[in-house]
Amino acid sequence: MAPDPDLDRRIPLITGPTPFEPLPRLGAALGMVPGALWVKRDDVNGLGGGGNKARKLEYLCADAIARGCDVLVTGGGQQSNHVRMTAAAANRLGLACVVVVPGDQPETPTGNIVLDELFGPEVVRIGVGATGATVGLDYYAVEAAIEATGDRLAAEGRRPYRIPIGGASPVGALGYVRAATELLAQAADAWGAEPDLIVVASGSGGTQAGLAVGIGDHGRILGIDVGARPDLDAVLPGKAAEVAILDGRPEPTGTPMVDHDQVGRCYADLTDACRHALVSAARTEGLLLDPVYTGKAMAGLMAARADGRIGPATRTVFVHTGGTPALFAAGIGDWLRKESRHAPHPGVDRPH
Ligand SMILES: Cc1ncc(COP(=O)(O)O)c(C=O)c1O
Repeated sequence: MAPDPDLDRRIPLITGPTPFEPLPRLGAALGMVPGALWVKRDDVNGLGGGGNKARKLEYLCADAIARGCDVLVTGGGQQSNHVRMTAAAANRLGLACVVVVPGDQPETPTGNIVLDELFGPEVVRIGVGATGATVGLDYYAVEAAIEATGDRLAAEGRRPYRIPIGGASPVGALGYVRAATELLAQAADAWGAEPDLIVVASGSGGTQAGLAVGIGDHGRILGIDVGARPDLDAVLPGKAAEVAILDGRPEPTGTPMVDHDQVGRCYADLTDACRHALVSAARTEGLLLDPVYTGKAMAGLMAARADGRIGPATRTVFVHTGGTPALFAAGIGDWLRKESRHAPHPGVDRPH
C-alpha cells in the first residue's frame, strides 16, 4: 500500500474507514426508493466512545505535538462530546488535558460526565454566564475561558495547545475533508455515483465546512443547526475557505445550506421532532442517535423529505457524528418515554 501522505500532519486515532451502511427500513418508511438512504457511521470509530471529534483530533493532536505542546486545553457544554473525546485523545497520546465547562459539578454524574470523570482531565468550572444555561452552552464565555486557561498554563511554564469548542479550527476541520474523501469512495462502491445530498448536524460548523471542502460544493451539504453558536451561517463560508487554503484545494462552490428549524428554544432543548427521529431510527434500523446533535439532524432529514427537498430517489447520506453517551444524561429516559406512551410503534410518518 502507498504511504498515507497525510501522516506528516495527522496522528491516527480512529479505526477506519468508518462503516457506510444502507438504511433500507428507515428509507422505506420515509417513502424513499430502496438504496437511496445511507448512513456514514462516524459514531463507531474506536476512540473514547466515538464520534466526529476523533477525526478532528487526529489533526489537532498532530499539530499540538509538532508545536511541542504538552497540554490540550478545550471546553464545551457540560455534556460535551468534544470535551470527552479530547480527554480520551490526550490519554491515548500521553498529553495532559484541561477542560473548561460551565456550571457546578453535578452531584451525580450522568452521560458524558461519567466518561469525563473516567478519562480524568483537569476541569475548570466557569459561571453560567449571560444565557443562564447550566447544561447548555454560553459559547463566547467558554471560548474566552479556554484562552485564559491557556494563558494561565503558559505562565506556569506549561506548553498549552488551545482547541476551540468543537475542535472547530481549520486544522480540526481537515478531519472532515478526509472523511468526505472516504465517503465519496464508499458512495462510488454503493451507487457508482456521488451522493446528491449529505445531511449532518452542525454545531460549531467545523464538520460541515470540512465536508464542503472535501465534496467541493456547499450546495450538497445540508447542515442541521443544533443552536450551539449564534453566528453559524456567518462563519461557514470563511471557515471553509480557510480549510481549503490549508489543504491546497479550491474553495467549495455554492453557498452553505443551514437549516435552523430543528433547534427548538436553544442548544440542547429536547424537541418532539428530535425524539420522534430518535425513536424512528431505533425502531426501524436499530440505530442509536443522540438527543442533542444526530437526533436533530435526523429530524431535519425527515423534514426535508416531508417537504420535498429530499425526493424519493435522492441519493442521501446521513453522517452520524456520534454523541450517543448523552442518551444516558439526566432526564433523557423520561423524555424518551413520552414518545413510547403515545406511539408504541411509531416507525416514521410517511411524508405524503
Ligand atoms: C455528536 C456531535 N455531532 C455533531 C457535532 C457538531 O460538529 P461541529 O461542531 O463540527 O459542527 C458535535 C459537536 O460537538 C457533536 O458532538
